[in-house]
Amino acid sequence: MEYQYILVETTSYTGVFLIRLNRPKELNALNRRGMEELVHAMQVLDADSSCVCIVLTGNEKAFAAGADIKEMANNTAIDMQKIDQFTRWDMLKKIKKPIIAAVSGFALGGGCELAMLCDMIIASESAQFGQPEIKIGVMPGAGGTQRLTRAVGKALAMEMVLTGRFISAQEALRAGLINKIVPTEIYLQEALKFAAEIAKMPPLALQLAKEAVLRSFETSLEEGLYFERKNFYLLFASEDQKEGMQAFVEKRQPQWKGQ
Ligand code: CAA
Repeated sequence: MEYQYILVETTSYTGVFLIRLNRPKELNALNRRGMEELVHAMQVLDADSSCVCIVLTGNEKAFAAGADIKEMANNTAIDMQKIDQFTRWDMLKKIKKPIIAAVSGFALGGGCELAMLCDMIIASESAQFGQPEIKIGVMPGAGGTQRLTRAVGKALAMEMVLTGRFISAQEALRAGLINKIVPTEIYLQEALKFAAEIAKMPPLALQLAKEAVLRSFETSLEEGLYFERKNFYLLFASEDQKEGMQAFVEKRQPQWKGQ
């Protein structure tokens, strides 16, 4: 697939790949074609054994200012139902490898929802998060009422969704929406370094651990604990488990194979 709205890059960190949203004039508004490309790129990296961790970013001014309003402004409900664009977004949920969002500037509407679809968020000091759909006559449609509420709790989620108020990186950190705030000039470098730390871990264990954490949103504690235990036991079928535990006993660094 030829990419028009995203860039996929290797990085100087082993195992870390970077995807940039690349519609700067539109503040990286998420059009349908761009999201097709993003899903495709993520799936390709998920299948690529040289990739362990993915960083998704925009630019300093905008991670993404939402779904493309101009593209959908004249759609009818039936068009929306037929196009069903957010079902494509759901495919990002299925990516097994850890995804870090490196957010600077606006992460609004679908942009905030996309950041929340990632596993962790590193934000620049100038990042702003919001669900302003209410101001254009609609409401969040790609997870804003669900993931935001789970992340920050009912009070703040309700306020953001019903008033459209943006929150700063500081407020997002206090609320538990993001992992850390870094200076704007180096936000991407810091996110890549963070991803590089993760990419040093055993790839298979990363994937099964990610799967188990995400399962906690979908299920009861009892079922979640059962699922976690099965993944834990499953890892004893991997060479990396033997290597990791043997390396501990021998007081040396483990060499991961990802199998
Ligand atoms: N869709 C389409 N185009 C957008 C866009 C969006 N979501 N956000 C910004 N743009 C475009 C603007 O129309 C403008 O284009 P032109 O130069 O052709 O006029 C360009 O990007 C630059 O934007 P502004 O001139 O508005 O920049 P600003 O710095 O003055 O304001 C902003 C920045 C506050 C983010 C403002 O652009 C804004 O409010 N954007 C819309 C935010 C929004 O409502 N997002 C939710 C979208 S709906 C959604 O996401 C549904 C969902 O749940 C998935």
